[in-house]
Amino acid sequence: HSIPVITIDGPTASGKGTVAHRVAHQLHFHYLDSGALYRLTALSALRHEVPLNDEHGLAKVAERLPCRFAGDQIWLGNENVTSAIRAEEVGNTASKIAALPTVRHALAGLQLGFRIAPGLVADGRDMGTVIFPHAVLKVFLTASVEARAERRYKQLIDKGFPATMEDLLKDLRERDARDSNRAIAPLKPAEGAHILDTSHMTADEAVEQVLKWYAAVK
Ligand code: C5P
Repeated sequence: HSIPVITIDGPTASGKGTVAHRVAHQLHFHYLDSGALYRLTALSALRHEVPLNDEHGLAKVAERLPCRFAGDQIWLGNENVTSAIRAEEVGNTASKIAALPTVRHALAGLQLGFRIAPGLVADGRDMGTVIFPHAVLKVFLTASVEARAERRYKQLIDKGFPATMEDLLKDLRERDARDSNRAIAPLKPAEGAHILDTSHMTADEAVEQVLKWYAAVK
C-alpha cells in the first residue's frame, strides 16, 4: 500500500488528539479520530436507549452510524454533535462498548476508509496494533495520570462542562484499566512503536518529535 499512515495511540487525555491533528495539518494528511467513532456509537446508543449489554443492537448502531466529518465539526444525522460527544458520560459509555468485539468489527471498515492520498494520521488505542499494522510510523503517546487529569480538567472547564480533579483522576484510572485490560485490542504500544511521554512536554514539542521521526522513515 503506497498511501502512508502514521498511527498515534495512547491513553485518554494524553494529548494524542491535539498532536495527531497538528501533525496531519503540517503534512497535509487526512486525520482519523477513531475515538470519535466509539463516542458517536455511544451517543447514538444512549439516545436510542440501546442497553449496554445488547451486543447485537450496539453493533447495528455502529454499522449504521450516520456520521459525517466536516473539518473540525462532527455530525450525527443532521445534528452537530462536536461538543456533545466530548461529555464524560459519552466517553465512559464509549469505553464500555469498545470492549465488545461486534462493535469493534463494525467500526473497523469505516476506519480503513480514512486511508486516502496523500496520507493519514490516525489516533486511537489500536491504530498501530490492529487497524493499520503496516503503518510507516507508529507512536505511543503517553503522560502521567496527573498530567492527563489536569489537561482534561482545563478542557472541560473551557468548554463549560462541570469537573473536579478528584472525579477526573478516578475516571481516568478506571478508563485506563478498562482500555488496557480488555481481551480485544487492549491499549498497548504496537511492535516497533516510538514511545513519547508528554508529561513535561508542550503539544508543539511533541508534534516536532513526531515530524522528525516521520522525516527519518518516509
Ligand atoms: O480517545 P477517546 O477518549 O475519544 O476514545 C473514547 C473511548 O473509545 C476510549 O476510552 C476507548 O475505550 C475507545 N477507543 C478504542 N479504540 C480506539 C479509540 C477509542 O477502544 N481506537
